[in-house]
Amino acid sequence: MSGMTLRDTLGRPVRDLRVSVTDRCNFRCSYCMPKSVFSRNYEFLRHSELLTFEEIERLVRLFSRFGVQKVRLTGGEPLLRRDIEELVALLAAIDGLELTLTTNAVLLPEKAPALRLAGLDRLTVSLDSLDDATFRTMNDVDFPVERVLAGIDAAAATGFSPIKINMVVKRGVNDADVVPMAQHFRGTGHIVRFIEYMDVGSTNGWRLDDVVPAREIIDSIDSVIGIDPAEPNYRGEVARRWRYRDGSGEIGVIASVTQPFCGDCTRARISSEGTLYTCLFASTGHDLRALVRGGASDEAISEELGLRWRERRDRYSELRASATASSPKVEMSYIGG
Ligand code: GTP
Ligand code: 5AD
Ligand code: SF4
Ligand code: SF4
Repeated sequence: MSGMTLRDTLGRPVRDLRVSVTDRCNFRCSYCMPKSVFSRNYEFLRHSELLTFEEIERLVRLFSRFGVQKVRLTGGEPLLRRDIEELVALLAAIDGLELTLTTNAVLLPEKAPALRLAGLDRLTVSLDSLDDATFRTMNDVDFPVERVLAGIDAAAATGFSPIKINMVVKRGVNDADVVPMAQHFRGTGHIVRFIEYMDVGSTNGWRLDDVVPAREIIDSIDSVIGIDPAEPNYRGEVARRWRYRDGSGEIGVIASVTQPFCGDCTRARISSEGTLYTCLFASTGHDLRALVRGGASDEAISEELGLRWRERRDRYSELRASATASSPKVEMSYIGG
């Protein structure tokens, strides 16, 4: 089966695997883990429910035979998973994989060197505002923005470069911070990506009015700094690239609401308890942990992965406009970005 290209019902291969390693986070961003739901009484998964590093490594290895080329570790906050660098080292030993991780940067000053040493290739940091008051409100745990910037600097000093900076833009909350964010990181080599706020999960109370369309984001930056469109790095790239006209770097804009990109979506996701989701907006997944813990052979697991991908027909963002009654969707904090 090695080398076989797997395609779903729409002809899309599987290239990108996102693995959540914990459902916990030390932030409570309102658009992701609102405090009203994720309170002190919220029951997070127990350690025994999480896939072990060996179980994750096995699933990633089997997926890589189907053509997966990039693995992103997510959470919740992935650096909260104890000894995460040991998982990175296990995955780095699999041939031909690009390894990356999305973090809120809180633990980067202590973790970046070990992650680098273990073989992590790239880092993405979530940062929604440079204004301290706005940032403290958005993370909802009063966390100061300087410490995130310190985390980014620590990672860059360890050799991670460029670092991608993800900013989710919410109307009336942080839209005034778009241009300052672009200006701050211009010339540093880091790449800011502005993300349209999405209706993921069922807890964030999403309204279309909260979305700042990509066009508006681009126009506001262009009017102050001057940007031109750039070619995608690869087919199916989620972010549209824009370059500063004066050569001082690039930004990305992720328009999953106003310009959905399901047609090229090659992403599979595994939750921290080992459930496979073939769409960020799926309401149900497929239990891989039961197979793994039930003693299934590599062949049997591969057969399940192949079956689930081949029958895939997801294109939620493209259908959103015409969607009627909505079914409950998996939470972003559970499945990872
Ligand atoms: P790189 O180009 O390798 O850095 O990865 P990426 O562009 O996929 O970036 P990342 O994983 O940081 O994703 C950025 C954001 O884009 C996510 O946090 C989501 O908000 C959004 N996004 C990523 N993948 C999908 C997807 O499959 N569907 C939708 N609707 N949104 C997505
Ligand atoms: N809309 C868009 N992106 C989101 N993220 C989380 N919730 C949302 C949402 N509602 C993404 C952010 C963050 C990552 C962890 O998940 O990009 O960086
Ligand atoms: Fe945590 Fe990221 Fe969700 Fe914020 S967006 S609560 S940092 S997982
Ligand atoms: Fe892929 Fe689903 Fe996102 Fe569309 S909505 S791009 S199918 S994850």
